[in-house]
This record gives sequence, structure tokens and C-alpha cells, in this order.
Amino acid sequence: MAQLIVRTAGESHGPAIVALVEGLPAGLAVDRAAIDADLARRQGGYGRGGRQQIEKDRVEILSGLRRGRTLPGPMVLVIRNRDSRLDEAGEVSRPRPGHADLAGAIGFLEPDMRNILERASARETAGRVAAGAVAKMLLAEFGAEVMACVIRIGPVAAEAPADLAERRRRRDASDLCTPDPEAEKAMKAAIDAARDAGDTLGGVIECVATGLPPGLGTHTQWTGKLDGRLARAVMSIQAVKGVEIGLGFAAAARPGSQVHDAIGYDAKARGRATLGFVRPTNNAGGLEGGMTNGQPVVLRAAMKPISTLKRPLASINLKTKKGEEASYERSDICAVAAAAVIVEAAVATELAGAMIEKFGGDSLRQMKDAYEVWRRAAQEL
Ligand SMILES: Cc1cc2nc3c(=O)[nH]c(=O)nc-3n(C[C@H](O)[C@H](O)[C@H](O)COP(=O)(O)O)c2cc1C
Repeated sequence: MAQLIVRTAGESHGPAIVALVEGLPAGLAVDRAAIDADLARRQGGYGRGGRQQIEKDRVEILSGLRRGRTLPGPMVLVIRNRDSRLDEAGEVSRPRPGHADLAGAIGFLEPDMRNILERASARETAGRVAAGAVAKMLLAEFGAEVMACVIRIGPVAAEAPADLAERRRRRDASDLCTPDPEAEKAMKAAIDAARDAGDTLGGVIECVATGLPPGLGTHTQWTGKLDGRLARAVMSIQAVKGVEIGLGFAAAARPGSQVHDAIGYDAKARGRATLGFVRPTNNAGGLEGGMTNGQPVVLRAAMKPISTLKRPLASINLKTKKGEEASYERSDICAVAAAAVIVEAAVATELAGAMIEKFGGDSLRQMKDAYEVWRRAAQEL
């Protein structure tokens, strides 16, 4: 079965972050500038630390591409680290609460936690963002789009317009990847206050995917359910501690009559994705039974506040077992804007994988033909 597999390699202060992308259809046009634009967005956001001033992420494509189109074969995407000093970087012996440090030291029998944190670091997500940018190019071939924005930072909630073009326009004009300029001012003030207090902030990201054909994913086996796959992809992002789809946790407090989306049919609404089936509400967030249902996929992710604190929490020295403050590594105050770009990439990669599984992935032409055959048959249901 055709399958999209994305793996990353590389340490935060190693020579590079690498993404291996296997299973893309041949013949897909790849726009390097669009990959670089997403890498730049991942580096941005008010409240970031010093690392982002050092790095100027750009993708190098080492394999799988000829004359701007994918070849039949894996792609290797490389993002070099300017701040490359892995051998020189000092030993870490005081584990930072909220990090992989202590659990990794015990699990890997590794007293120098530098050997854990270098790979646990969110620098790894540069690889996932580069791969996700290519996944978005594949989705665009089928008229599908994925967009994530920030809807909360700490105590400050934002309003996201229902009109997605307007949401994107406002998001792209924001330093915090949020579509609400009023809330953005309060968010920046909250980040400044956290910085002054030696503290950090988290937040919430909302991701919407539109134009997807209904029936992506499957109800037949738990491993293939698209809601579960999306949750896993997003939950695996560093510092993401909650994922909800549609109403999510709020659905638990309502009766069923106020949760489930009635089904109607309107021949005039026969678009590529909806096929004429209309739903007055989208509380399911576009997923029923582990499959897309033709409505926008709506997913939210909760990011915890950054773990490394300027005023470090209590910890111990692993060598002496005596109490000491946790180590301090140069750090962000708030990285929710960057996480939105990563959520977008993770969702796009999972959705592109589901498209490849449904329509076959040897060549883009074959995939498009299979899509059209399926679409015509679905219209005749
Ligand atoms: C874009 C992004 C940037 C991050 N930057 C930092 C940072 O500067 N300092 C820090 O302590 N944690 C940062 N984190 C979070 C840690 O990488 C993460 O909390 C840690 O690896 C432990 O993983 P867990 O929170 O998923 O359990 C960042 C996360 C993301 C997504």
C-alpha cells in the first residue's frame, strides 16, 4: 500500500536537522520558496529566545527532486544549524522539570543529559515543518488547504473569523500568528509580563483543513482512524498536552441533541468536497467514524508554557543527588506562534498520507485519475 512516511534526524546543536520523506507521488511540483517561508514562520513569533536570531533556516533538497518535480524515490530535506557545536556544548547534570532530561537520563542510562536534550529539543520540528510544506503542496493539487492560527496565549483568548480567507489575511499580518489584532496587543503584554517575572506562557492553536474529500481515513481498524492519527501527530509535537477535534471536551457537557450535526442534501451545494451533503453545524469537526465527512476538519491543540524558566525550579544534581536549581538553557518565553506552524505541518502530513493511501501514490497523474474516478462514483451514490 502506498504510504507517506516522514522521519527526522538531527540534534539541536548538531550540523543539521534532516527530514526523510518517503512515499510522495512522482511529478509533484515543489516550491522551495514556500518551504523556506514556512521555516521562517516557524522561527518567528513575539516572545522567542536568542536562538532564532542566530538561525536563518533554509531548506536544501538532497534527493528526490529533479527540475522542480518529485522523482520516484525518497526526498531528503536538510536544514543546517548555524549554532552547530555539539561536541563543545557543556554537560548537563541538573535536570529541568518539564523536559525529557530526567526520564531520558534514566531510560537511556545517560548521566550527561546533554545527550538527551539535544534530540528532545523542538529544533527537530524544522524537519517536520519542511516536510509538511511539501505535504501542503500535494493537498493543494486536490484543492485542499490547511491553516492553523493562535486562539489563546496564557489568559488572553482571541476571536478567529469564520471566513477563512479573512482569518488567513489577519493571521499573516500578526507577530503572534493570531487573527485578532486586539487580542494580539493583550497577548504581547502578557508575554512581556511573563518575561519580567522570569516566567513563561503557553496557549491554544486552532487548525482548519478544507477541501478534503469525504471518506479519507477508515472506520475499519483503530490504527487507520484519521481522528486518532491526527491526534497522535499533533500530540507528538514538543509541549503539546491536549488535542481536541470539533467540540472536543465541550461535547461532554452537552446532550446529544446539541452535539451531533444533522444531515441534509442540496444539489446546488455539490462542490468537490461536500458532494451536496450539507450539515447545518460542524460540531464533529469534519470527522465521523475515523473518516472525513466533507466538512472542514477542525482541530485544536493546547501547548503548555515553556519549561525552561529564567528563575529555575528546584531540581537535583544527578551526580550528588543534592538539591540544586535546574539548569538554564537559552530559551523562549512563549512559542505558541511557532507551534501553530508545526501543527499545520503535522496535520498536512497526516492528511496527505491519507490521500496517498486512498488514491495511490506512484505518480501524481495516477493519483488525480483515481481521485476523479472515485469522485464521479461518489456523485452517483
Ligand atoms: C516551537 C517550540 C519551541 C520550544 N522552545 C522551547 C524553549 O525555548 N525552551 C524550552 O524549555 N522548551 C521549549 N519547547 C518545549 C520543549 O521542547 C518540550 O516541552 C520538551 O521537549 C519536553 O517535551 P514535552 O513537553 O512534550 O513533554 C518548545 C516547543 C516548541 C513546539
